[in-house]
Amino acid sequence: MAELKKLMAGTGSSSYGILIGKDIIDLDETGNFIPRNADKTAIVVSKRVYGLHGETLDRFFARFPGLEIFMMDDGEENKNYALAGMYLDKFIQAGLSRKSVVIGVGGGVVGDFAGFLSSIYMRGIPVYHLPTTLLSMVDSSIGGKTAVNLSKGKNMAGAFHQPGSVLMDIRFLDTLPDDELKNGLVESLKHGLIGDGKSLEILESNDLVSIRNSDVMTELISASVEFKLSVVERDEREVGLRAILNFGHTVGHALESLMDYTGIPHGKAVAVGMIVEAGISRRNGWLGDADLSRIGSVMRSYGLLDADLNLDPRDVLSHMRFDKKNSGGGINLVLLRSLGSPEFNVRVDEKTIIESLSDYLAVRRGV
Ligand SMILES: NC(=O)c1ccc[n+]([C@@H]2O[C@H](COP(=O)([O-])OP(=O)(O)OC[C@H]3O[C@@H](n4cnc5c(N)ncnc54)[C@H](O)[C@@H]3O)[C@@H](O)[C@H]2O)c1
Repeated sequence: MAELKKLMAGTGSSSYGILIGKDIIDLDETGNFIPRNADKTAIVVSKRVYGLHGETLDRFFARFPGLEIFMMDDGEENKNYALAGMYLDKFIQAGLSRKSVVIGVGGGVVGDFAGFLSSIYMRGIPVYHLPTTLLSMVDSSIGGKTAVNLSKGKNMAGAFHQPGSVLMDIRFLDTLPDDELKNGLVESLKHGLIGDGKSLEILESNDLVSIRNSDVMTELISASVEFKLSVVERDEREVGLRAILNFGHTVGHALESLMDYTGIPHGKAVAVGMIVEAGISRRNGWLGDADLSRIGSVMRSYGLLDADLNLDPRDVLSHMRFDKKNSGGGINLVLLRSLGSPEFNVRVDEKTIIESLSDYLAVRRGV
């Protein structure tokens, strides 16, 4: 069995354990990471994940008292406020109290949803996460952000609600398609580019096949989680430093929204976003050409830069203006002073953004 990693997260508001490894949910000590003295244990579980891993999950669930299982349909469209209200009513009907706990089992959609429900049910009850996608392991299950979508925007209603613990069993990744794996690899790469040298090194010395090796994957997830924790522990509520985690996301979100959230996967949009924002960093005289080509080359080795983008840079820019992270009418970006040294809230003029977008789109068209 691959080595078991245990990490401790400590924020101003709480501390919690994170367990990472293969087949860990069958270990006795894993059960101790979630209390077994709650009056009810509400499991919010992805239907798809339950369909793929039902036997394993049933064994795990059987350890908990007062079990109530709530299946959830996957898909971003289900992470919404109206459905959250219906689940809260179901919690009441099932008799959940202030002494109950919630366990979220699935990708980031289910994790965010379960986290949101637990953050407001009876003014907040504990939530535990069993993330089953790479993105939810390296990103969404840690840091305490929970949210649902409103009709006018993604993640617009939410709360900070730190988990009681997080169990990352990489056995679940065996059934995760490569395209979904890539969404998580991009977030790890982002960590690599903004300061997590270990994730960058692991990603550069592997490819889409070898990265799935249990030991390699455990190392990558551990490095990435440790890095994200080091950031959110210093700025739990995103009043400053935590903004560096948005590297690549302002351009990335604009691409996703311009392409109606169906034309490009999240990971590939963020990958392009990182290349473009790295390009702006170079135009600022901060990042060297060699660094830029190093970033491009690791992205290409995981097939992250093959999205078909027949776009007008001015349309991308106009979608960037709506990003909720921009204030005061300007475009604030996270740029790289050098590899591993990000700077947040850098005001960038629109001409530079257009030029960098044009550079990237021209290269994609082979101009
Ligand atoms: N809270 C945060 O800090 C934070 C950070 C980043 C992203 N997010 C949120 O995370 C969500 C995206 O998460 P995601 O990328 O995990 O997507 P997801 O939850 O939609 O999962 C992607 C797909 O993988 C399937 N799946 C999940 N586990 C599987 C497994 N083990 N095997 C096979 N298929 C599996 C799901 O059914 C789904 O179809 C978004 O809603 C985003 O807003 C939150």
